[in-house]
Amino acid sequence: MHYRKIDTPENYVFSTSTPQELQVPSGGEAVRTIVRSPRYPEVYVKLKKLGPALYRYRGSSDRWKAETEKLVALTPFAQNEETPESANGSEKDQSLFFSEKTADGAETEALSCVLASDGGLSLLSGEQVVLRGLGLGLNGKRWMLRFAYNERHRYFGLGGKNLGFEVSGKRTLFWNTDLFAEFSWEEIEQSKADPLYASFPVLIGHDPDSGVWYALVMDAPWPGFMNIGATEGIFGARPFTRYLYLGAHNGEPDVWILMDRRPDRLVQGIQQLQGTFSLPPLWALGHHQCRWGYRSAEDLERIAAEYEKRGIPNDGLWLDIDYMDGFRVFTVEKTHFPRGAEHIRALKERGYQVVPILDPGLRRDEAYGPYKEAVERRLLCETKEGISYTGFVWPGYTVFPDFSLEKTRSWWAQKVTDFTKTYGFSGYWIDMNDPATGSAPLEDMRFKQGKLKQEAFHNLYALGMAIATRQGLEAAYPEKRPFLISRSAFLGMARYSGMWTGDNVSNETHLKASIPFSLNLSVSGMPFQGPDVPGFAGNASAALMETWYKAGFLFPFLRNHNVHSAQDQEPWTRGPATEKVVAEYIRSRYKLIPYLYQLWIEQEEIGSPVMRPLWYQYPEETWTFSCDDQFLIGPSLMHAPLTSLTEKGRIVRLPKGHWFDWNRGQVIAGGQELEVQPGRMETPLYIRCPGVLPLLPGQRTTNQKDLRMVDFLILVQEGDTGVYRYRADDGETLEYRKGVYSELEIHYTCAGGLLRLEVQTLRDAYGPVHYTFQIPSSLACRGVVLNGKEVPPHRNRVSLVGKRLECYGVRGE
Ligand code: NOJ
Repeated sequence: MHYRKIDTPENYVFSTSTPQELQVPSGGEAVRTIVRSPRYPEVYVKLKKLGPALYRYRGSSDRWKAETEKLVALTPFAQNEETPESANGSEKDQSLFFSEKTADGAETEALSCVLASDGGLSLLSGEQVVLRGLGLGLNGKRWMLRFAYNERHRYFGLGGKNLGFEVSGKRTLFWNTDLFAEFSWEEIEQSKADPLYASFPVLIGHDPDSGVWYALVMDAPWPGFMNIGATEGIFGARPFTRYLYLGAHNGEPDVWILMDRRPDRLVQGIQQLQGTFSLPPLWALGHHQCRWGYRSAEDLERIAAEYEKRGIPNDGLWLDIDYMDGFRVFTVEKTHFPRGAEHIRALKERGYQVVPILDPGLRRDEAYGPYKEAVERRLLCETKEGISYTGFVWPGYTVFPDFSLEKTRSWWAQKVTDFTKTYGFSGYWIDMNDPATGSAPLEDMRFKQGKLKQEAFHNLYALGMAIATRQGLEAAYPEKRPFLISRSAFLGMARYSGMWTGDNVSNETHLKASIPFSLNLSVSGMPFQGPDVPGFAGNASAALMETWYKAGFLFPFLRNHNVHSAQDQEPWTRGPATEKVVAEYIRSRYKLIPYLYQLWIEQEEIGSPVMRPLWYQYPEETWTFSCDDQFLIGPSLMHAPLTSLTEKGRIVRLPKGHWFDWNRGQVIAGGQELEVQPGRMETPLYIRCPGVLPLLPGQRTTNQKDLRMVDFLILVQEGDTGVYRYRADDGETLEYRKGVYSELEIHYTCAGGLLRLEVQTLRDAYGPVHYTFQIPSSLACRGVVLNGKEVPPHRNRVSLVGKRLECYGVRGE
């Protein structure tokens, strides 16, 4: 597989006759037959309308049949016939996207797709062409859907790529890659490598002329490509025509097309199509401590004790490969855990969750049970000749479970269940599932007992591993919310696992790149993810550690992880001044957990990402299309962190409206640029006004979090009025699905200097919520009326991101 070259339409055959266009009848489908060359069987394409502006384009032909028949679909994605359903299968979620009768039906009515006789596809807004199709191209088993490239369009998405925020003018391949095994150190260090670990062939486009946002979601598990108007870079060749095209090296064409006038709904649609990320356990939203090198109960206990001594909250204690006995998966080195499960139980009682790594590769060792079973039952990947494929990973000679086989997935799931029950681990970190095979060629690794080529299942390998691991975890703890983090992924992964963004480097380049990287992943279908903080490879300086924690403390996933050869990088390893900064930011994250949790509830229900590019909410302000160093966390928080280690200040652009500037402690007008110079403990953080921000009370020095004890920070000005809904549950089990949660609705109005607050209890199945309102004293408010009664406010302070804000506190229930 040449992962540095990309197909060109010049080597594909396209129809030469003038294309005729065919409108798809509502709820129906349009079908075309395209006969290409005498050498290959003919191709049929059909376009089906599945929702107001949701279409599915599919091609079929005997030229692809042999391969696709062997590939039993893993999920609704990966070329399945069925319409995807949401992660928890609730009908409510489906209807949001697939119903013809959405509230905005009228708006989306004019958006349509037409199929042409050359197999091309055009997107229309009324009569206006949004994207002009230029046919389906064929090259044996390869296919390509081509469009005219409009330089005025702006593009985003493509999942976890190092291509920057805007992907207009870029090209990429979808081939899950073990970064450190395939690229030079220079490429890695400068964040220049592509492709990386995950494949989310999701392209989001915006047409400024029609105002339409659209997405092309290519469900191609085979090696795929997208070229978004890239120029021919190597020789600067002329003449050269730029196109937008996407395609794959094999398998039936299968492309979903979504259109909307609003980017937020479009992104939610992309997520719903793939399945939303089910509500994570509350502990997953905390801070996680990891390092390649922790290997024993003693190590974990030492780290836990440090966190406790220093009053820094932490939830996860992660074990990298050294906890295993000779790198044998599903084993624990006894001398490092002499009391076995007791250690894990004791840590859990202290409030920590232990998350070990699971690699797919099994040690080739006759005395190792899982290896013997896997051979006996033919559960492994094989070569063409039918012997088990061998690669070289941590255990030396390594064999690989074939996750394309149902019997392997259930075997693996059973192993996970037994391992979990034996040791009491809380979740899993699944790694090396690109899959990484060391120096052994990937092509020799085949699936379905040697019958299916590597390319057919390569990009799905991690998905197969995640499905099996999740299944095992669910069987071990049927009442609990499962939690998994994976390195590799494909479309649909969010319904099984979150991700971390793989091996990064402790330098400023990687720190800066982490924002656009996570933003594009977030809008492509992976909401739960984040980078290793403050970088994996290399030694982080004190300045990098402070800056990265300040920039990354609100990312969906916050884990400190470090390569084995580097200097320790726990928060206290760079001296007291740095520790103070890092501790403040970890504590601030914990304070914000009630707010973050509400976002995950919404994510599960409608697929709204937690970390959002500014265009998600402010698409009419076109400067947001190139804003790659500021981001939103939910609708209310806008963070504009410093990512430079040398510059002391930066320019922040505020979208229109009003914002509470946390550093100044007052409301400022949006629609302006600010020059900021935050102090060492501060970061430019803005809260949208009017708004309500739920916080855990007091300073957070432990990981204790009861969502029923909450402070509501109220940010209102004269004339503001609004409603905020807050939900609390046990944060751990699936009881919330049976209605075991409590919910409040806060109605606020500020008029004549008087703040009126009405709190309604909508549900109290998880017990009463105890709350206090905190009103910044800078918001001239002469009195507070709570539920009809004037209440005396008391002076108070709320601390967050290095700033103590003078507030008036009003005790509620
Ligand atoms: C590769 C992973 O990306 C990294 O996070 C981990 O520490 C090493 N494997 C060792 O397990």
